[in-house]
Amino acid sequence: MNVVSTIKEVQAQVKAWRQAGYSIGLVPTMGYLHEGHQSLMAAAKKDNQKVIVTIFVNPIQFGPSEDLASYPRDLNRDKIACEQMGVDLIFCPTVNEMYDANFNSYVDVNDLTDALCGKRRPGHFKGVCTVVTKLFNITQPDRAYFGQKDAQQLAVIKRMVNDLNFDIEIVGCPIVREADGLAKSSRNSYLSESERSASVCLYQAIERAKAMIKQGEKSVTIITKVMHELITNQPLAKIDYIEFVDLTSLKSVDMLEQDSLCALAVYIGKTRLIDNFIYQHS
Ligand code: PAJ
Repeated sequence: MNVVSTIKEVQAQVKAWRQAGYSIGLVPTMGYLHEGHQSLMAAAKKDNQKVIVTIFVNPIQFGPSEDLASYPRDLNRDKIACEQMGVDLIFCPTVNEMYDANFNSYVDVNDLTDALCGKRRPGHFKGVCTVVTKLFNITQPDRAYFGQKDAQQLAVIKRMVNDLNFDIEIVGCPIVREADGLAKSSRNSYLSESERSASVCLYQAIERAKAMIKQGEKSVTIITKVMHELITNQPLAKIDYIEFVDLTSLKSVDMLEQDSLCALAVYIGKTRLIDNFIYQHS
């Protein structure tokens, strides 16, 4: 496994692989890797001859009052996690390598980014789309892998790739969870012991909603009310949002009469956690 930090080194490697006719799978990450990230690497490994993982805490997707400075980092541990998965190349650039002093071009997907997390994190998806575009251009992958954990991010990236004609297949991968149901996340490392126990309320609310839907409930108002109550019962939890939206347009839905995404964001103490599930209308 090769570990490089300059764009030139990646481009040289990619050029050699392209000339040899190898297919390339890309897994973009911000590091502090866990089994969720590793599941994307496994999928990339299965479909492609070469796998590139990028590790870059992208400053332009963090708001001024967000956790850029404290975002967890451990490159040595990340290298081991990638090595275990048979990754061929890690690209871990510095901020200056990605954004030079004159940097001033951005990629902005409209509408989809106004919903859900976009409302609370203005500019976040513009930062994500810009860095992902740069990573696509640098690594020239055949396929790129994203987790359903960040459902809105996945929808936005798919829209961007379609709108801007990137010749890249976007592969969505299922949410990997802890034994008690909490979705794995680098940010779970912020949780104290009591917060960690409390954080299972997101998954419990999802399971409750799924059970209601299974019993035939179609009213979003009724389902979200129960989810609200369940989470509000947990003193350490503060709801940011719980919403059902159309899976493609991310516009709010009142009744479950189409494929929908149920997404929630909840503060556990100071840590903002997100989770979601997809309702498939059949
Ligand atoms: P990061 O939060 O490190 O996540 C990298 C990828 O791993 C994303 O596609 C995310 O959805 C996926 N992922 C995280 N937790 C997961 C889980 N429990 N199960 C399955 N997949 C999971 O998302 C980002 O970084 C950044 O925004 C990035 C796309 C790298 C751009 O900076």
